[in-house]
Formats: sequence, structure tokens, C-alpha cells
Amino acid sequence: MSNTSSAPLRFDGRVAIVTGAGGGLGRCHALQLAARGAKVLVNDLGAARDGSGGSSAAAEAVVAEIRAAGGQAIANGGSVTDPVAVQAMVDQAMTEWGRVDILVNNAGILRDKSFSKMELDDFRLLVDVHLMGAVYGTKAVWEIMKSQGFGRIVFTTSSSGLFGNFGQANYGAAKMALVGLMQTLALEGEKYNVRVNCLAPTAATRMTSDIMPPQVLELLTPESVTPGLLYLASDEAPTRAILCAGAGVFAASHITLTNGVLIGNGPDAPEQVAARFAEIAQREGEIVPKAGLQQSQQEMSKVMAGR
Ligand code: NAI
Repeated sequence: MSNTSSAPLRFDGRVAIVTGAGGGLGRCHALQLAARGAKVLVNDLGAARDGSGGSSAAAEAVVAEIRAAGGQAIANGGSVTDPVAVQAMVDQAMTEWGRVDILVNNAGILRDKSFSKMELDDFRLLVDVHLMGAVYGTKAVWEIMKSQGFGRIVFTTSSSGLFGNFGQANYGAAKMALVGLMQTLALEGEKYNVRVNCLAPTAATRMTSDIMPPQVLELLTPESVTPGLLYLASDEAPTRAILCAGAGVFAASHITLTNGVLIGNGPDAPEQVAARFAEIAQREGEIVPKAGLQQSQQEMSKVMAGR
């Protein structure tokens, strides 16, 4: 199906950490990074889908698979919600291999309920796992990557965060927070060749087994998402991208800013905003700002032009 292709993406000499890699997408990412030459630390708490329980057996099984295929891997059973365990995980990779080039923040859980029924603890837990889990890992590798002059960090976001999904207010908010984290870290990492991106996968895993019909699940293999992850983890990676991947289809999502309308702050400004909302929201000429400052620059230039 491919009609253009470039040099093979290889990871020889690279050290990758993949969190939540005992099953599902993370396992597939770890196997394929290792198959293309990376040394991989396979982290997984071995928890149930809702985050309960845990054992390092899941990570160890994936390490055994990688080694059986001739690759190099080590296991780690720590939880991404524990900053001390996350630091120990990074230390483990440094002791074993002396560098960390790639961090794939993939560990995740669900606690779906409509917002009316959702307990605050279910909200906090999801933020702890998805957002803070990724923050702890990223913080622990950040200085290493900066001093190496090479780093690739991937956050696993979700269409539920980007676009919403009934019953997933906690999950969606935590997943979208990762996009915000990426936006700034990509800017801060740029001059050190630390590139930061988001992957928004769709895959048939235990996370989605009861959400989608079987004929859809058959197409949504983790193997058809991982090529996107390999690109984001590679030397060729972009930075600050949101790559959506599922069933072998790859798309990009963007946070955009419309051209805007100068209304001023006269006494009827609220009524003007209401009356002209369609014009404010219309998308022709919208941009993807390169940084937050671009919004205020656009505002200033409209005001100046209006004078
Ligand atoms: P999965 O449930 O098969 O894999 C998640 C893994 O994370 C499990 O092996 C679990 O033990 C591990 N984990 C959970 N909490 C952990 C913790 N505190 N510390 C370390 N490991 C932990 O699910 P799947 O589908 O492979 O999900 C992978 C990532 O992709 C998640 O971040 C998920 O939110 C995200 N995602 C998945 C989608 C899908 O369609 N499957 C859609 C959008 C995002």
C-alpha cells in the first residue's frame, strides 16, 4: 500500500523506555523498537484495566519475548504514579546502558462514568496516572536528554481528550493535558534536539474490547499504530505533532486559531461577540500558532490595523 518510502528507521545504540509495555500498545511498541535495534526498558505495573492490582510478570514476559527474538531488554515493575519508582526506573536504564534516548509514556487506565456519577477520586487517579505519570518520567529523563543533545519523548494522548467521549471526562481531561505539556516541552527541548510529540492511537486492546464491535476491533491492531510511534521516536521525528493512528491510517490533529474579529470593548461588545460569533469561529485563514505568544501578536496586529 505504500508508494513512497525512505531509509529504514533504525534504533541501533538507542535506549528506549516504554511505560505500560506489558500488554496492548506498549508491548507492541517495545517489541518493534527492539526489533529495529533499540535496547528497551519494559515497564509495567501489571495492573488491571482500572489500575487495581499489580505484578512485574507482564513486563518480564515482554522482556522474554524481546530476548527470544534476539533483542535486548530489561523489565521494571514500578508504577508511573510513584515518582521515586519512576526515578529508579530511569536509574535502572542508566546503570544498564548509560543513556536514555527515547521515552514512550504509554501506561494508562480507565475509570469511565458519566460526570454526574464520577467520584473525584476517579478523576484524581486518572490525572495521576496519565498526566503526572508522564510528568515524572519526563522530568527524570529531561536533563539526561538535554545533556546528550538527543531525546525523543512521546505522550500517548487520545481522541477522547482531543474531541471528547461520553463517560470519559476524567480520561479525556488527563489525555488533553498531555497535549498542553507537549506544546511547551517541545519549545523548551528544541535547541537540545529533544523532540516531544503526542500519539493518539486507536487499537483493539483490553482497554477498548467492550467499547467497539468485533469487526472494527479486528482492523484496529496495535501493529497498525506502532509505525507512527516508531517515527515519533526516530532520528527523523518532527516535534510538537499530534499524530493520530489506527488501522494503518495516520492523520495529524492541530490546535488552531481563527483569524479573529476586532470588536473592541464598547458597551455593546458582549452583544457584538454574540452577533458575530459565526464570523469569529469561521475557519478560513486559521493558523496553527507556533507558540502561545502568537495569539496576542494576532490581537495586537488586528488592533493596529483597525486604527
Ligand atoms: P492496556 O490496558 O492494554 O495497556 C496499558 C498498560 O499500562 C497495561 O499493561 C497496564 O498494566 C499498564 N499500567 C497501568 N497503570 C500503570 C502504572 N501506574 N504504571 C505502570 N504501568 C501501568 O491499554 P492500551 O490500549 O494498550 O493503552 C495504551 C495507552 O494508549 C494508554 O495510555 C491508553 O490510554 C492509550 N490509548 C489507547 C487507545 C486504544 O484505542 N486502545 C485509544 C487512545 C489512547
